[in-house]
Amino acid sequence: MQAMFDRVAPRYDVANTIFSLGQDRHWRRVAAAAAAAGPGDTVVDVAGGTGALAHELADAGARVLALDFSWNMVATGAARARAAGDDRVWWCNGDGMRLPLPDASVDAVAIAFGLRNLPDPAAGLAEFARVTRPGGRVVVLEFSHPTWAPFRSVYTRYLVGAVPALARVVTSDPAAYRYLAQSIQAWPDQASLARIISGAGWSQVRWKNLTGGIVAAHQAVR
Ligand SMILES: C[S@@+](CC[C@H](N)C(=O)[O-])C[C@H]1O[C@@H](n2cnc3c(N)ncnc32)[C@H](O)[C@@H]1O
Repeated sequence: MQAMFDRVAPRYDVANTIFSLGQDRHWRRVAAAAAAAGPGDTVVDVAGGTGALAHELADAGARVLALDFSWNMVATGAARARAAGDDRVWWCNGDGMRLPLPDASVDAVAIAFGLRNLPDPAAGLAEFARVTRPGGRVVVLEFSHPTWAPFRSVYTRYLVGAVPALARVVTSDPAAYRYLAQSIQAWPDQASLARIISGAGWSQVRWKNLTGGIVAAHQAVR
């Protein structure tokens, strides 16, 4: 998993924008707003990749730590931020399953398109609960399942047909995008993920469907 993300890191953001048909920025903005973190708040962006969500959170004034276990993702994100003169985000190469943070030390944890990749998502959510102060929040932005059946079948054809075909042209690692399509199909639907989140120590779980449910932003309180 680590090696796969190391390989895709240089072209990761461009590929995201192409495959999401330009929707990915909007999705992350919704997730950043759901984190409800502003000046004085500390947020961890787990599996932060090159920091796309971390920058949205920093735009709201929060202090942000972007953590990812792919060195190339962290290095790419940090180098781009440095080149842009943006020093608002702290970068950390680490494992989202074992956050290098004390108990109840942050106001929110956010994770975008990362929970699906953790070896044990429920244990990951419990680890996020450990580092979040009582009353703090978790936001999970993740691929989900379109709610309208006709749209779901068109989308499934795009996912299993067009995404791997496009990946052969725009990325250096088509296998990574076959994995993407398979892992999205195997992922729990909105209500099932909400139950996993509550079972990991979170309350008041709710979610918002985005782009017809292709993506969902789940939010909960510690
Ligand atoms: C699909 S990318 C999402 C990146 C970013 N959050 C975004 O929205 O663009 C998934 C990320 O999860 C990271 N990841 C997977 N398992 C991880 C783990 N156990 N701990 C930390 N990061 C992990 C990968 O290295 C990769 O950067």
